[in-house]
Amino acid sequence: MNVKELVGKMTLEEKASLCSGLGWWNTKPVERLGIPSVMVTDGPHGLRKQAGEGDHLGLNESVPATCFPTAAGLASSFDRELIATQGRALAAEAQANDVSILLGPGTNIKRSPLCGRNFEYFSEDPYLAGEMAASYINAVQSEGVGTSLKHFAMNNQETARNSGNSVVDERTMHEIYLAPFETAVKKAQPATIMNSYNQVNGTFNCQNEYLLTKVLRDMWGFEGYVMTDWGAMHDRVAALKAGCDLEMPSMSTANDEKIVAAVKSGELDEAVLDRSVERMLNILYRWIETGKKDVTLDLAAHHRLARKIAGETMVLAKNEGGVLPLDTSKSTAIIGAYAEKIMFQGGGSSHINNPYLDNVLEEYGKVASGEVIYAKGCKQNGETTDELIAEAIEAAKKAENVLIVAGSPQETEGADRKSMALPKGVVKMITAVAEAHPGAALVLTCGAPVELPFLDKLGALLIAYLGGQAAAGAIVDIVTGAVNPSAKLAETWPMNHRQSPAHPNFGKSGDVRYEEGIWVGYRWFDAHDIKPRFRFGHGLSYTTFEYSEPRVSASEITEGEPLTVSADITNTGSRAGAEIVQLYVGQDICRKVTRPIKELKGFEKVRLEPGETKTVTFTLDRRAFAFWDVSKHDWVIETGTFTVSVAPCSCPKRQKSVTVKVNSTSETLEPLTLESTIGEILATPHAMEVFGPLMQAAQSMAPATGDDEMFSAEGMMEMAMGIPIGTALSFIGGQIDPNVVLGMLRQINSLNGIE
Ligand code: BGC
Repeated sequence: MNVKELVGKMTLEEKASLCSGLGWWNTKPVERLGIPSVMVTDGPHGLRKQAGEGDHLGLNESVPATCFPTAAGLASSFDRELIATQGRALAAEAQANDVSILLGPGTNIKRSPLCGRNFEYFSEDPYLAGEMAASYINAVQSEGVGTSLKHFAMNNQETARNSGNSVVDERTMHEIYLAPFETAVKKAQPATIMNSYNQVNGTFNCQNEYLLTKVLRDMWGFEGYVMTDWGAMHDRVAALKAGCDLEMPSMSTANDEKIVAAVKSGELDEAVLDRSVERMLNILYRWIETGKKDVTLDLAAHHRLARKIAGETMVLAKNEGGVLPLDTSKSTAIIGAYAEKIMFQGGGSSHINNPYLDNVLEEYGKVASGEVIYAKGCKQNGETTDELIAEAIEAAKKAENVLIVAGSPQETEGADRKSMALPKGVVKMITAVAEAHPGAALVLTCGAPVELPFLDKLGALLIAYLGGQAAAGAIVDIVTGAVNPSAKLAETWPMNHRQSPAHPNFGKSGDVRYEEGIWVGYRWFDAHDIKPRFRFGHGLSYTTFEYSEPRVSASEITEGEPLTVSADITNTGSRAGAEIVQLYVGQDICRKVTRPIKELKGFEKVRLEPGETKTVTFTLDRRAFAFWDVSKHDWVIETGTFTVSVAPCSCPKRQKSVTVKVNSTSETLEPLTLESTIGEILATPHAMEVFGPLMQAAQSMAPATGDDEMFSAEGMMEMAMGIPIGTALSFIGGQIDPNVVLGMLRQINSLNGIE
C-alpha cells in the first residue's frame, strides 16, 4: 500500500476523522477509500476484548481469554525468552479475535511499592524493565500484531492520575524513567505508544512536545504512532502539533472538527495532520498485510503454557532448613481461603475473563499421597474470626507439613495502597499458624511488596506475585519440587513503605515532586546502606550455585569499545536448576555528578545440572558506563575506573568484582588552572604523563610521616587532593615556580584538546 498516495487522496475532513477513535476500541474507517476500521484492545497479560458495552476500567464482560502471569512476576523471571513465549501466545489470542493492537506492555518504573498498578509494571530498574518490554514487543509484533507501549511517561502513581503533575529533573527522567521506554523503542519499535494521563513539569503528556517529538522521535527514532490513554486528551490541536496522533476513545466528532477549523484558519499546518494520518495508516496497513488470518485458539493448551510460565515467575525468598519442597507422602495442612480461590490478577483495565482457574487445594490433592487437611483461616476479603483461627491452629498442629496461602487483595488500577500492610485478619492468621507449627511455609499472592511482620516465625516464603489463571498449579509445582524455583526479585522489598525513597513525595495530588531523583529502589538502599526486607535480585533455589571471579576482555578500554565480562557458574547442589546471573557496573569516582554505587547492566539465566559448570558471558556497550549530562542533554562517559561485578543478587556482600578503566571521548573537560585541585588534575587524562616527575619532587619535599604521627600518609594524601595546586605551591614556599606548573597545566589542556 502506498500510504503517502492514499493520504493525498483524502479530504481534510477524512484525515481529521482518523485522529480520533470510533467509540471505545476501534479506529474510524474511511469507506470511500476502502480504509477499514481496526480494533485496539487491552492488555498486558491477556486479551480484554469487550464484545458488548465498552469501558476502560474492566467493569463489563469481555471474551474468554487466557490470563497469563502479570508483569511483576514475569520480570522476576529475568528471562527474555520466557516473556517472548508469552508474547507470542498473546498475539495468537489477539489474532483469533481480530485485534490489531494489544494495549501493552506497561513499562513504568516502580517508584514506590504503593503504586496500584505495580503488578502491571516490570521493575524499579530501567535496564531490566527495558529488556523485558523489548522482548515482549518483539515477540508480539513478530506474529503480526502491534503493541502499545504504555504509559508514556513519568506516570508512577494512580493517585490523581488524570491531573497530577510529575515534577522531574532532566537527568532523573532520562536515567530512570525514560530509559525503559528508550530501550523498548530502539530494540523493538512498538507499533504505537500510549501517552499517559498526567502532566510532566507543567504540560499534559498528550501535548508534551519534548516527550512526544524531541525525545521519542528525534532522539530515539520512534516510527509508529502515539495514541492517548483512555480520556487523556486535552487540547486537541496542541496535541497534534506536539506529536499525539490518535485520541482514544471518542464518542463525538467535536475534536475532529477543531482540527479541520484549525487548518482552515491557518493555526495548524495541514502537513502536521498529514504526518499523523500517514503514521497511523502505515501501522494499520502493516497489520492488514502481515497479520495472520484464521488463527484458531486452543485455550486449554494456553492454560498449560500459562502454568509453565508461572512456575518461572515465583520467588523463593526464604527456605530455612530446606522446608520446601514438601514431602507429599506426609500429611499436609493447607490453610487460607486463597487456597480455594487464588488471587491471580489485579483490578482495572487488565482484568481478564479467564476460561480456567486452578486452585491450590485441588492441584495439591492431585499429587499428594499423604492426608490433606484444609482450614480456611481467614476469609477471601482478609477478615477472620476466632473460630477460623482456632481451626487453622488445630490443622497446623495436626499435620506434618503446613502450607499457608494468603495475600493482598488490594492491587488495582486507579488507586494506590496507603501502606504495605496486609489485612489485619491475614496477619493474625499467618502469625497464629506459624507459632503453632514452626517451619510453616507461606505462599504470598500479591502484586507488590507487603510487610512481613511474621517472617521470622516462618520456615519458608514463596512470593507468587499475581501469577495468572494457572498460578495455583505453578505454586503446587514449586512447593512439591516438580519445578525448582529460579525467579529473583525485580524490585526491592522494603520493610515498610516509609523505608522507600519516594515515600514523602508519593501519592500526592497536584505537584508530585520526584525529589529522590535517581535514587530509586536498590540505588537508594545501596547509597544509604539501608537493609531492606529483601534486596533487588534476591531469590533462592532448591540447589546452590557458586560463582568464579569475573574475567574481562581488557582492563582498559576507550569509550565505545565493547567490553566482555565472563564468569563460571557451577551448580554445587544435587538438583538441576537455573540461576539468574546479574551484572552490575559502578563508577568509582565521578567528578561531575554523583552516581549510584552500582547499576544493573546485564543479566542471563543459566540452566545447570548438578555438578555442571557453564560460562556466562556479557558484552557491555558504551551505555553501560554513561550518565545523562544535563549540560550536553546527552549520554556522556567520564574517564575513570569502574567496578564491574557479577553477582547472584544486588547484596553488596555478594559482588565478585573487577576494575576496568574507561577513557572517555565524550566528556567535556574543564581547562585546568592554578585553581584546580590536585585531585582534579590527577584525574584528568594525560595528567600523569606531564605531571609525574613534579609529583615525585613534591612528595620528596613533603614532611615525612612516621609511625608515631597523628595523621597517616593516606590521610595527608587525601587532604592534599582537595587543595588547589596554586595554594599547595604557596605552602612549599616558592620551591617550585608557579609559572612552570602553569605551563604544565597548559600542556595537559592542549593534549586534551582544550584551549
Ligand atoms: C488504562 C490503560 C488501558 C486503557 C484502555 C486506561 O484506563 O490506563 O492502561 O489500556 O484504559 O482500557
